[in-house]
Amino acid sequence: MTVVPSDLGDMDPEAFRRDAHRVVDWIADYLAGSDRYPVLSQVKPGAIAAALPSHAPARGEPFDAIFADFERVLIPGITHWNHPGFFAYFAITGSAPGILAEFLSAALNVQAMLWRTSPAATELEEVVLRWLRQLLGLPAAFEGVIYDTASISTLHALAAAREGLAPSVRTHGLARRTDVARMRVYCSDQSHSSIDKAVILLGHGQESLRKIGSDSEFRMRPSLLAAAIAEDRAAGWQPLAVVATVGTTSSTSVDPVPEIAELCRRESIWLHVDAAYAGVAGMVPGYEWILRGAEQADSLVVNPHKWLFTPFDLSVLYCRRMDLLRAAFALTPEYLETVEAAPVRNLMDTGVQLGRRFRALKLWMVLRHFGADGLRARLAEHMRLARLFGEWIDGDASFQRLAPVPFSVVCFRALPHADAAARDPETDTFNERLLAAVNASGEMFISHTRLDGRYALRLAIGNLRTTEVHVARAWDLLRQHAASLRLNR
Ligand SMILES: Cc1ncc(COP(=O)(O)O)c(C=O)c1O
Repeated sequence: MTVVPSDLGDMDPEAFRRDAHRVVDWIADYLAGSDRYPVLSQVKPGAIAAALPSHAPARGEPFDAIFADFERVLIPGITHWNHPGFFAYFAITGSAPGILAEFLSAALNVQAMLWRTSPAATELEEVVLRWLRQLLGLPAAFEGVIYDTASISTLHALAAAREGLAPSVRTHGLARRTDVARMRVYCSDQSHSSIDKAVILLGHGQESLRKIGSDSEFRMRPSLLAAAIAEDRAAGWQPLAVVATVGTTSSTSVDPVPEIAELCRRESIWLHVDAAYAGVAGMVPGYEWILRGAEQADSLVVNPHKWLFTPFDLSVLYCRRMDLLRAAFALTPEYLETVEAAPVRNLMDTGVQLGRRFRALKLWMVLRHFGADGLRARLAEHMRLARLFGEWIDGDASFQRLAPVPFSVVCFRALPHADAAARDPETDTFNERLLAAVNASGEMFISHTRLDGRYALRLAIGNLRTTEVHVARAWDLLRQHAASLRLNR
């Protein structure tokens, strides 16, 4: 047993046991009743910082005091993503098995840069990503790697694409190069801003990203993509990659991946599929079509932290050419050289960061706790609730649905009066006020977007504690507040 002088070591083990039990009790109560808090934090900017001391304490404090401040000062400044009335952005769940895994992961404090710095972390990542790949019906040619977010997954996918096209960039960079053609990345005008950020970070500049128009259901138009590629080639651009999205951020539309994949194949262009939110729905019977064509992609990102009940953060990049990713980033200084009894995978080789958290543990526990059937049933239920909400919107003449509902998100708006014109600025303002009013209720939290120039409210379902009762309550609140705003116009 390790003996450390008590004033120089970690927290006393018995104190840890007592306080940890307290924290677990708190978490269990929280998960059972997160709806006792306002879902959207109601604090004013600066209030939390002002309630905290301006300097770190000189002497250690008892956990009781720290925990009391956690509850008194910090909790009011929390927006509760684990609240059943959370319908904003993409609603997510930090599920109980995932929370338990995070607890254990923190205790082990694994840093999985090398296989030997925790063989289980490296090998579990491989196993669990194989399980997920099989659930999604993706081919075995895809090797997976875990990053924190989809933004980072996509950045790495595009870095691999560039490595394939211009390997000299790793050594010589891009500045003042006349021997490297300007490169172009294509995505739709509905794609996520992480694609813009990736091209910025890779040094190509935002002008290297060409946004392709989408159709009336917000899907990329392949004919416009083909024309853009031809035009760019004629003007001396080198196409680098096409990013197709399965589940766009605003309306969750699905780009026609089979046609886009065919075009990429003909043109020898890297295809990256951004399935960060909706990809997991591909495991639900009847939804296999959403990943059709993705089997031809070079890379695909899917985020278990979005809609697979895995506590934030955990994003998965599947890549057919992991060798290119390694060629782009592998770099082993002397102090990290290792020799093992057999070839091993060192996770530090597959990206920018050296250190890596043991994220695979939570995905493993989530997949095992719910099982494939349990996950499918929960995803299907969220989609049923979204369709139901969409039907309520369709059945009420004072509301208007603004996009199809392929998954668990509904885009809609309220009409201030019967003759509200399609692009009427008054309708936009009315909905901005409606959003503020329902979010101030503390019972629900929705967000917004703009579709076809119109201000759209977005109701996203993705929390395991959200039931039909909560969705019905959200609908009641929306109708009540819209009615009172109409009266007070
Ligand atoms: C389609 C899509 N791609 C990428 C992202 C970025 O996700 P992350 O926060 O994991 O970087 C999002 C975020 O909502 C998204 O909707």
